[in-house]
Amino acid sequence: MTEKPLQLALVGATGSVGRAVLEDLEARDVPGIPRLLASTRSEVDLLEFRGEEYEVEAVSERSFRGCDVAILAVPAAAARELAPRAWANGCLSVDLSGAFRAEEGVPLVVAGVNDADVARGSVRGVVASASGPVVSLALTLAPLHREAGLVRVVVTVLFPASSAGRAGVRQLEREMVALLNGEEPEPSDLSHRMGMNLVPQVGAFLPGGSTEEEAAVGSELRRLLAAPGLGITATAIRVPVFYGHSLIVNIATARPLTVEAARAVLRASPGLKVIDDPAGRVYPMPMLAVNDDAVLVGRVREDASQPNGLDLFAVADNLRRGAAGNAVRIAEAWVRQRLS
Ligand SMILES: NC(=O)c1ccc[n+]([C@@H]2O[C@H](COP(=O)([O-])OP(=O)(O)OC[C@H]3O[C@@H](n4cnc5c(N)ncnc54)[C@H](OP(=O)(O)O)[C@@H]3O)[C@@H](O)[C@H]2O)c1
Repeated sequence: MTEKPLQLALVGATGSVGRAVLEDLEARDVPGIPRLLASTRSEVDLLEFRGEEYEVEAVSERSFRGCDVAILAVPAAAARELAPRAWANGCLSVDLSGAFRAEEGVPLVVAGVNDADVARGSVRGVVASASGPVVSLALTLAPLHREAGLVRVVVTVLFPASSAGRAGVRQLEREMVALLNGEEPEPSDLSHRMGMNLVPQVGAFLPGGSTEEEAAVGSELRRLLAAPGLGITATAIRVPVFYGHSLIVNIATARPLTVEAARAVLRASPGLKVIDDPAGRVYPMPMLAVNDDAVLVGRVREDASQPNGLDLFAVADNLRRGAAGNAVRIAEAWVRQRLS
């Protein structure tokens, strides 16, 4: 926790991630009251924080004055425009949109994995928060990599409706109501039908057939683990779950790692909860992850089809852990590093 109040501008306060930032600040008792900002078109005037109502302002030239950090929980186009304006006022941007993730001079950070890189935010005035599932994946795999050296990762990421923001949640709600009433839902601009379906496309397709989200998993994880030679292949699927992303993970390590040793390493790692008692039908599920700050890990088992192979299953609250919690921890690290 930061000692000094965090002078925070929260841009996109009215959105799914913005509201999760407020919940994270409340739950972890982070001192300070954020400035709540949204677009000029926002339909929300007031938001509750610690039992009081605060006004939501439209972003303006004055918004970043006196702030140490701006969390940008907005679409990429808005983030690109706002980050330089914030930095002109000496305010670091923590970007959640992905607009800066691949840019030169912008550190990519998962708090708890590579916190020291936050200091490099001073190069461009921006720190990029890794994409939601990669936050959970990096927290889970970093300790196993340190212990046994990862050689290869095969991961399937199940994206919930809320990973497409408020619009995604509304779409799945509408579809489920229609389907349970025996009607075919109205088609949506956003994606194929999510209700009672699986959609094997998250993000635009790239040459070669992977999607942007799938490619990002590999490039981000290699950077975060400082493992440029790590082999990774990812498949991203949108599933009819409202909250919580799930990761089906298969790894191969350079050195042998027993199931018990892997569980012990994961248990000792901050930010993870091992929930793994198959005989008692105890394992991670998205419904258990909602509003939890931890990544839940279980179903750890040997993959006998390859040398030093392991399988596991991990889930986390995509809004709270994958996005908001990481951004707030980066903001706290920036302020701490500035004060030390
Ligand atoms: N959802 C996830 O699981 C997740 C995870 C990691 C990262 N992200 C990223 O986080 C960002 C926000 O996602 P979300 O799920 O919270 O979306 P959302 O629910 O659609 O909310 C979008 C927010 O952005 C604001 N906004 C839009 N245009 C703006 C502008 N020009 N200036 C200022 N504010 C503007 C909206 O405010 P109004 O009230 O004015 O519309 C709203 O507060 C996106 O870039 C997304 O890719 C999302």
